[in-house]
Amino acid sequence: MKKIDISSSINGIKLSSCIMNASGVLCCTEKELSEILMSSSGAVVTKSCTMVPRKGNLEPRYFEWNIGSINSMGLPNLGIDFYLNFLDRKKPKKPFFLSISGLSIEENYQLISKANISPNINAIELNLSCPNLVEKKNQVSLGYDFEKIYDFLKNIFKFYNKPLGVKLPPYFEDFHFEKMALILNQFPICFVTCINSLPNGLFVDTNKETTVLHPKKGFGGIGGRVIKPFSLANIRKFYVSLRKDISIIGCGGICYGKDIFEHILCGASAVQVGTQFFKEGIRVFDRLKNEFISILKEKNYSSIEEFKGKLNVI
Ligand SMILES: Cc1cc2nc3c(=O)[nH]c(=O)nc-3n(C[C@H](O)[C@H](O)[C@H](O)COP(=O)(O)O)c2cc1C
Repeated sequence: MKKIDISSSINGIKLSSCIMNASGVLCCTEKELSEILMSSSGAVVTKSCTMVPRKGNLEPRYFEWNIGSINSMGLPNLGIDFYLNFLDRKKPKKPFFLSISGLSIEENYQLISKANISPNINAIELNLSCPNLVEKKNQVSLGYDFEKIYDFLKNIFKFYNKPLGVKLPPYFEDFHFEKMALILNQFPICFVTCINSLPNGLFVDTNKETTVLHPKKGFGGIGGRVIKPFSLANIRKFYVSLRKDISIIGCGGICYGKDIFEHILCGASAVQVGTQFFKEGIRVFDRLKNEFISILKEKNYSSIEEFKGKLNVI
């Protein structure tokens, strides 16, 4: 019987499984992170952290329905020191990605400087795309501010010398994909994660005639099954336009093994699971792994390299 290998490499960072958690979902506390460490997920990604702990936005701030989720969490997290300390104590046997999301460019420099001197981090996932910060009221999220992002990355790579990936918001226009790829291709970026939640969705409770979320007048980031076509499009566009040494981590709408297959076929080297992890809990990683392996068996593939990026266009 052919052995099926679902290991992967993110620009040299080895994962025993290409399936991992998405930042922000059940990866905030000691208990949650420990559970992911013990699970079959191929890596651990932390909740996006800030310099000091944050409680986040008022509740209700998360809601899910059959095909999606909406959230406006406002980055509740335990502060960067907690995550660095967790890492130093646990010395994980799987790659550990520290997600950071400063509330300002200045705070991002501080966070990156701190992470730079931590010996055990495999990579930073720099969140350029949090759609839910109430502080940012009249500000565009960094991921949509192409001028700022260029200067920001230029300054980061003057002092930062570890692997750095960026978590991008969804783009919709060809012009934006091209512009972003042109910027990223100029820097020693390790990976991009596509995509963060789709910003500014609105879900209505018909009976009560209200929004389901309290913060930001009910507007929030959309995740889950409903966003998969957008994540696939973003993966594909960046797969064809980024330097080949920049790996892509697919995120958005993964519910079944089939979704993982599609992300990788479009060009992802690994995938992250958010909303479905929230719905199903830690068992999701075993289920997805089994379903994904079954698909590879049916298709007679023995590793992800055999079909990664090989989407046929008719
Ligand atoms: C409750 C919740 C909290 C999230 N928090 C973060 C976060 O802290 N940092 C981040 O980069 N993305 C965050 N996200 C976005 C997810 O990581 C992911 O990009 C998005 O939900 C799409 O994946 P999905 O369709 O599997 O949910 C959050 C998503 C949810 C549902």
